[in-house]
Amino acid sequence: MLSAENLTLSYGSTVALANASATVHRGEVVAFVGPSGSGKSTMLYCMAGLLHPDGGKVSFDGVDLTKLDDPSRSDLRRRDFGFVFQFAELVPELSLRENIMLPLELNGVGRRDRRARVEELLQQLGIEEQADRRPAKVSGGQAQRAAVARAMAHRPRVLFADEPTGALDSQNGVVVLDALLKLASVDDTAVVLVTHDPQVAGRAHRTVRMHDGMAQL
Ligand SMILES: Nc1ncnc2c1ncn2[C@@H]1O[C@H](COP(=O)(O)OP(=O)(O)OP(=O)(O)O)[C@@H](O)[C@H]1O
Ligand SMILES: [Mg+2]
Repeated sequence: MLSAENLTLSYGSTVALANASATVHRGEVVAFVGPSGSGKSTMLYCMAGLLHPDGGKVSFDGVDLTKLDDPSRSDLRRRDFGFVFQFAELVPELSLRENIMLPLELNGVGRRDRRARVEELLQQLGIEEQADRRPAKVSGGQAQRAAVARAMAHRPRVLFADEPTGALDSQNGVVVLDALLKLASVDDTAVVLVTHDPQVAGRAHRTVRMHDGMAQL
């Protein structure tokens, strides 16, 4: 469903991706692992259409993301993709509940369905009690769980997550991974995540190891 072929990307003289390829199928949870600086985040961002590679292509349902114009790529991202960034980027003025509601509003989901979905996610991720607080008024781990809930809200076709359990204790890491695995099995979402945590990688369906900007199966 989503494949990256021979991606190359350099930041000046630093080669971040050197012919990296990877494929992700629907309903599959794939974990990118590897040393710091090996290109994991760069690979994830290219596959998500957030970074433009210097060479290679990224196909989503047969469409090459690198060939789309910016508005079409943004539309596709809003509708079909969900993102969890390494540092939870919630909208600071909105409560956790409103943050999670946002992608549903942007995608025109009706009020009732929106409410039901948000309450379900708040409960699933264990942040109901903090739902009315703004991100600055909750712990880092609670904000990260809200960011995961927000990325899952509209049941994207692909969910990208850079270290989604990085700020969490092991118990809440399990909560997040359970939620992502459930999204993959119930909604057939492909989940592409980057992790340093062997426990998280161990629960993924498949692991891709990055090394010096290349992906090894
Ligand atoms: N904005 C940038 N400008 C310059 N170099 C960058 C930039 N972002 C990443 N790099 C470099 O590209 C290479 C790959 O970086 P990337 O962030 O993809 O690694 P990573 O595997 O995600 O590492 P980590 O595990 O530390 O998050 C590294 O050498 C890094 O220093
Ligand atoms: Mg990274």
